[in-house]
Amino acid sequence: MVGNKKNQAVGTGDAPNGAIALLLSESKVCVVAGPGGVGKTTVSASIALEMARSGLRVAVVTIDPAKRLASALGLESLDNSPRRVEDKRLLKGGVKVKTGGELWAMALDPKGTFDDLMTQLSPDAASLKQVLDNRIYKEISGAVAGAQEFTAVAKLYELSTEGNYDLIVLDTPPSRNALDFLDAPARLSRFFDGRAMQVVMKPASLGLRIAGSGTGIVMGLLKRVTGVDLFSDLAEFFAAISGMVDGFTERARGVAKLLADDGTVFLIVTTAEDTPLTEAKYLADRLAEDGRPLSALIVNQVRPEPGVKRKSVRAKAVREAIGDDLSNRLASAIDDARDAAEQDRDGLEAITQSLKPIRLSVVERLDGEVHDVAGLARMAGELFPETV
Ligand SMILES: Nc1ncnc2c1ncn2[C@@H]1O[C@H](COP(=O)(O)OP(=O)(O)OP(=O)(O)O)[C@@H](O)[C@H]1O
Ligand SMILES: [Mg+2]
Repeated sequence: MVGNKKNQAVGTGDAPNGAIALLLSESKVCVVAGPGGVGKTTVSASIALEMARSGLRVAVVTIDPAKRLASALGLESLDNSPRRVEDKRLLKGGVKVKTGGELWAMALDPKGTFDDLMTQLSPDAASLKQVLDNRIYKEISGAVAGAQEFTAVAKLYELSTEGNYDLIVLDTPPSRNALDFLDAPARLSRFFDGRAMQVVMKPASLGLRIAGSGTGIVMGLLKRVTGVDLFSDLAEFFAAISGMVDGFTERARGVAKLLADDGTVFLIVTTAEDTPLTEAKYLADRLAEDGRPLSALIVNQVRPEPGVKRKSVRAKAVREAIGDDLSNRLASAIDDARDAAEQDRDGLEAITQSLKPIRLSVVERLDGEVHDVAGLARMAGELFPETV
C-alpha cells in the first residue's frame, strides 16, 4: 500500500511534504515528459500556476493544449512568445498570486519558432529568404517528425538565455514514444550538420554517384511525374543553410548543456495503467543513462475508491425506494470503480517499487476535464498538498 506515501518525498525519510514545490523553487527549468495523453500539458500548466502563485515569475511553454485549457489561459492562437496571464483572470479562477508572482504562457508554434531560429542564424537577408522560400525547408520546419520536439527545446533555450523568468516549465509533444523527445533534437541537428550536406554538395563524391545511381533515377522520375525537382531543391536548401550550420551546431550544443544543467529538472507524468507505466519506466531508465536522474514522478488520473459502499445501495430500504434494477446497476458501477481503484493502486505500487522516485506525487482523476484556472488550481492542490 503506497497511499501513506502519497505526495511525500519517498526514500529520504525526513524530506518534507511538498518536496516537488521545494525542488522547483530552486530550479530554472522544469521539463514535463511522459507517455501520450496522461496529462503532461495539464500538469505543466498546473505547476506553472502554482509556482507563480507562490511568488515566482513563471513561463509555461505548452504544446497542443486542449482548446478549453488554451482559452482559459488566453492562448487562443499559436504564439511564439509567452504572454502574461492577467492576474484578474487567475483571480476569477480563485487564485490570488503573491507579490512578485507572474504567470506567462504560450502555445508553441513549431513553424514560427523554426523561422525565428533561421532568422537569428542567417548571415544576411538574402540567404534567409532563400531558406524560408525553399520547399525542403518548408517540409522540415512544418511537418517532419522531430520538428516539434526540436523547436520546443529551441524555444526553451531562447527563453532561458533571455533570463526573464525565475522558472520555465516545458511541456513535451504528444509523441507516440516518450523517448522521441530526448532523441529528436540530436537527430535534427545531425541532419543539419556537415555530413548530410556533403553528400549532396560535393560533386566529386558520393553526391554525384548518388545522383547518377538509383536516387538520381528516382528523383528524375519524380520530377517528370510531379514536376517537383527535389534534387535541386535539396541542393539549394543545403547551399542556403551552409552559412548557418555552425550556428545551428552551436545552438544544439547549448541546448544539450541546458538540459544537462543542475538547474534543469525532469518530471515524468504517467497514469497508473499498464502501457503508460511501462513507457514511463523506459523513459526514466533512459534519463538515468543520460546522466539525468528522474527528479520527480507524478502519477496522474489515479482512479479513487468509490465514495459509496456497495451495501448502502443494496439496503432493503434503498431497494424499495429506487427499485431493484437501479440498485443492481449502482452496485455493479461501484464494483467496477472499486476494481479500477484497486488496479491503479497496484500499478502505483509497482512503479514506485521499480523506479524508487526521490519525489512522488499522486493526483486523482478529477471530475470532468481540467480545463480552467480553477481546475488547474485543484490539480495543484494534489500536486503540492501543503501549499494550498
Ligand atoms: N487529474 C486529472 N483528472 C481529470 N482529467 C484530467 C486529469 N489530468 C488530465 N486530465 C484530462 O486528460 C486529458 C489529457 O490531458 P493532457 O492534454 O494534459 O494530456 P497530455 O499528456 O498533454 O496529452 P498529449 O500526449 O496528447 O499531449 C485532458 O482532457 C485533461 O483535461
Ligand atoms: Mg499535451
